[in-house]
Amino acid sequence: MLELREVNKVFSMGTVAVKNLSLSLVDGEIFVLLGPSGCGKTTTLRIVAGLENPTSGRILLDGRDITSMPPEKRNIGLVFQDYALFPHMSVAQNVAFGLRVRRLPQEKIKQRVAEALEMVRIPELANRLPKTLSGGQKQRVALARALVMEPGLLLLDEPLAALDAKLRDELRQELSVLLKKLKITTLYVTHDQTEALALGHRVGVMRTGELVQVGTPQEIYRKPANAFVARFIGNANVLIGRMASGQRIDLGFTVLEKRHLNMESDVADLPPGASVQVVIRPEHLVPANGARGFAFYIQDIQFLGDRFRLLGSTSTGAVLAADLPGALDIAAGMPAQLSFREGSIYVEAVSGDQASHSAPDYTRDIAIA
Ligand SMILES: Nc1ncnc2c1ncn2[C@@H]1O[C@H](COP(=O)(O)OP(=O)(O)O)[C@@H](O)[C@H]1O
Ligand SMILES: [Mg+2]
Repeated sequence: MLELREVNKVFSMGTVAVKNLSLSLVDGEIFVLLGPSGCGKTTTLRIVAGLENPTSGRILLDGRDITSMPPEKRNIGLVFQDYALFPHMSVAQNVAFGLRVRRLPQEKIKQRVAEALEMVRIPELANRLPKTLSGGQKQRVALARALVMEPGLLLLDEPLAALDAKLRDELRQELSVLLKKLKITTLYVTHDQTEALALGHRVGVMRTGELVQVGTPQEIYRKPANAFVARFIGNANVLIGRMASGQRIDLGFTVLEKRHLNMESDVADLPPGASVQVVIRPEHLVPANGARGFAFYIQDIQFLGDRFRLLGSTSTGAVLAADLPGALDIAAGMPAQLSFREGSIYVEAVSGDQASHSAPDYTRDIAIA
């Protein structure tokens, strides 16, 4: 088990990279730290690896305090975005390196290297030099080099970020299968929400050094703790509404009924007039099909393969994205009638500050084609 206790990191110039971060990983868990560039993910990983000292706080591994233990004693495997392979060594020599340092018998090293290359499905590349490999292949070597040490903990820092989209998807799926099969405790860092949702048993969302929400991918997606998480995870239209009678919510251009709300929304105790934050995923919007909906002025239609994304605005100028599957008989420039998928919309109370802070979507004046 890995535990971070109130870890802080302030760099010499005063940058607070990690702020009061506490976190526990259970054995065999894949925990994904997700956040935008510069939010402190790599610094957190480096602190766990022992490559960086925390300004304060403790790191525990299986109940032992390892905060001051040198990196090579921690039995932690590391994989970075840029592979960091030894250029003059073959693939097999790269993978064997750590075992040689540990002075394992030659035969044993050969066997474990072969097993590791098999695991990442590149046995045929054993004698190649890194410069002759593709990005995806290099990352497999880096992974094999970490796994061959049978680490108690695996740290992956944006391992797929340098790969092109197709390869990234493929390797992500393989990683998911492999890590779950090996039941290796993994701390995985990424800024890519698709990766986080697909790979993580749990996801921790970071913002400017702080962990703002921890939960299963489904919890994070369905019940974002705030507008930052909602926007960062998946696509979200975040609007500010006002409570009306009967637990209805006035959005200005339409009124949300109670039946539209996600179960997690707790608006029962809010008085009429209270501000609420409303998270509407693009897939939560549906054609009104004759029923009472709201007018939506389509400005752009994007074909996304399995669905269409409509960008447009409401009668109050709120900009919304809506994802509709299948064939459409509408075009940009046309008004459409949209409604909400029942039970989908997540709503939470907001303080007065937040309400005005998040308001621009609502008041934005945009030209309607
Ligand atoms: N060695 C360093 N010295 C000073 N500031 C640093 C150093 N490393 C990272 N930072 C700063 O700490 C913050 C977090 O960086 P980092 O952990 O690399 O974020 P992420 O991996 O999420 O992109 C950034 O503001 C970055 O500029
Ligand atoms: Mg980073």
